[in-house]
Amino acid sequence: MKTTRKITNDIYYIGASDRRLALFENLFPLENGVSYNSYFIDDKKTAVTDTVDRFVSDAFFENLEILLNGRALDYLIVHHMEPDHGANIGRLIEMYPDMKVVCSAKANQMITQFFNINLGDKAVIVKDGDKLELGRHTLNFVTAPMVHWPEVILSYDETDGILFSADAFGTFGAPDGGIFNDEIVIDEKWYGEARRYYSNIVGKYGMQVQAVLKKAAGLDIKVVAPLHGPVWRSNIGEFIAKYDLWSRYQPEEKGVLIAYASMYGNTEAAANALALALADRGITAQAVRDVSVTDTSELISLAWKYSHIVIASPTYNLGLHPKMEHFVTDMKALNLQNRTVAIIENGSWAPAVIKNVTEIMSSMKNITIMEEKISIKSALHDNAPIEAMADAIAQDINR
Ligand SMILES: Cc1cc2nc3c(=O)[nH]c(=O)nc-3n(C[C@H](O)[C@H](O)[C@H](O)COP(=O)(O)O)c2cc1C
Ligand SMILES: [Fe+2]
Ligand SMILES: [Fe+2]
Repeated sequence: MKTTRKITNDIYYIGASDRRLALFENLFPLENGVSYNSYFIDDKKTAVTDTVDRFVSDAFFENLEILLNGRALDYLIVHHMEPDHGANIGRLIEMYPDMKVVCSAKANQMITQFFNINLGDKAVIVKDGDKLELGRHTLNFVTAPMVHWPEVILSYDETDGILFSADAFGTFGAPDGGIFNDEIVIDEKWYGEARRYYSNIVGKYGMQVQAVLKKAAGLDIKVVAPLHGPVWRSNIGEFIAKYDLWSRYQPEEKGVLIAYASMYGNTEAAANALALALADRGITAQAVRDVSVTDTSELISLAWKYSHIVIASPTYNLGLHPKMEHFVTDMKALNLQNRTVAIIENGSWAPAVIKNVTEIMSSMKNITIMEEKISIKSALHDNAPIEAMADAIAQDINR
């Protein structure tokens, strides 16, 4: 069965979606699957860009065979070695013994690591500025180290203005129906999933993403063809603007994420009181989340969205509630910057959350911890400290 789609005259989508997968990288929950994009270039020389995850291999090989229609495959272009795209590289090399593999020097090494294959002179090693002529199409290579792995390259087809962007501009979620951005609903929710993908997968490497955006700024891009999610052929600037904000660690919105943990409900009550007090002051851009029921990847995405973050946690074995600790250390691991943080701690004998969060965050870049902190001994019986914290946050937001 053919499940391909024309991107331009002679370039085809030959990827596939997995709607069964529960956890991407066996870690990130998927609400509606994920797609693995691969593209076939039907030129004087035939080429395929990347492969797909092992769970959807059948569709990929069937599509490729139908489009090749008996011709040989001349080139495999490897933009990224992560197995969600690279799983079938070894099999492809075996199937097409005369095929050249176009990739970075690091990817060539990784092919040996993953598949125990030494490409020898079948490898065409490319770096910034190198080109590959296929006939009508000429691909220009751009290195993109750490977007998302060190071996990543992007390619730009100068003939049709297509940027094959690897994991950049990817998203969670299998497209509903069409594969182009103008064929699916791109709304707040969609951008939420794109942000969750960006912040958790590539978030740590904002500087490297900025470097790639600068390189791409000089290209006349008509189509962005990433490895996950829709192919962008209109409004590309809208998505690039989000990427620019995200990779500079600038919030999308002035607003507050209140992330709380609570065993018995007392810290939760304080968090709820703060949310209401903020609403009283006109702050409606808020997300209030219980870290025990919200996946950390979603908390990270919201931390990327909002300018202010409230950490409200009981003390747990002299440290943070374990779910809160995961969230706070993940923000640090992912290099989040430029945020203002308020802390509410709770403890029945030796509260230690303010100390712990301050310690963890002190080594993060440009994180301001607000003076107005709240330390609760078991339960709060007075709204005054909450009102004071709400005043301070609202003032800071309306500055
Ligand atoms: C496993 C466990 C460990 C705890 N460790 C501490 C601690 O080290 N220091 C402290 O002051 N309270 C500790 N507590 C008590 C809680 O932090 C305290 O009761 C808090 O008020 C609970 O807030 P909550 O009502 O929002 O769950 C611990 C509680 C549990 C269940
Ligand atoms: Fe990746
Ligand atoms: Fe990927």
